Amino acid sequence: MAVNKYAYRFFFLFFLVVAWHCGVPQEGKSLYTENCVNCHMADGSGLPGIIPAINASLVIKGPYQELACLLYNGRQPADTIKSFVAMPSFKTLTETQITNLINYVKKEWTEDPQFVSEQEVAAAVKACQ
Ligand code: HEC
Repeated sequence: MAVNKYAYRFFFLFFLVVAWHCGVPQEGKSLYTENCVNCHMADGSGLPGIIPAINASLVIKGPYQELACLLYNGRQPADTIKSFVAMPSFKTLTETQITNLINYVKKEWTEDPQFVSEQEVAAAVKACQ
């Protein structure tokens, strides 16, 4: 019986870990579908000449702080020569949503994704306001 009790605990913890791992990227994926797919496409390939591809972007591979600020503030075409249209600002998303988005795009398009916490993203967003 004692063994069973431990087994239940183990499975409960196991379930929590699996749920967390599946749940977080899952929300990130639906946020990406709702907010980004129109421009950057599901595979991140963009629209050649109009919208930059992000599946090989240094902004995705680079420090999460830069990505958090880009999502929060958007970017005007004049700032870079990537496009003649703007990257919209996603100020309306919560810090949790921005965190899930960052973790999703990093999982999809970096070799060795370093996941970030909501606290880290909140601090990064504050620093770039
Ligand atoms: C209205 C179309 C549009 C939408 C929607 C959009 N983007 Fe962008 N995005 C752009 C454009 C245009 C640029 C390039 C802006 C520039 O620098 O001139 C860009 C740039 C980027 C870059 C930087 C690419 C690089 O290498 O410089 C990343 C990363 C990015 N977008 C991610 C996202 C994510 C994640 C979302 C969804 C939350 C999103 N974008 C939604 C149009 C869009």
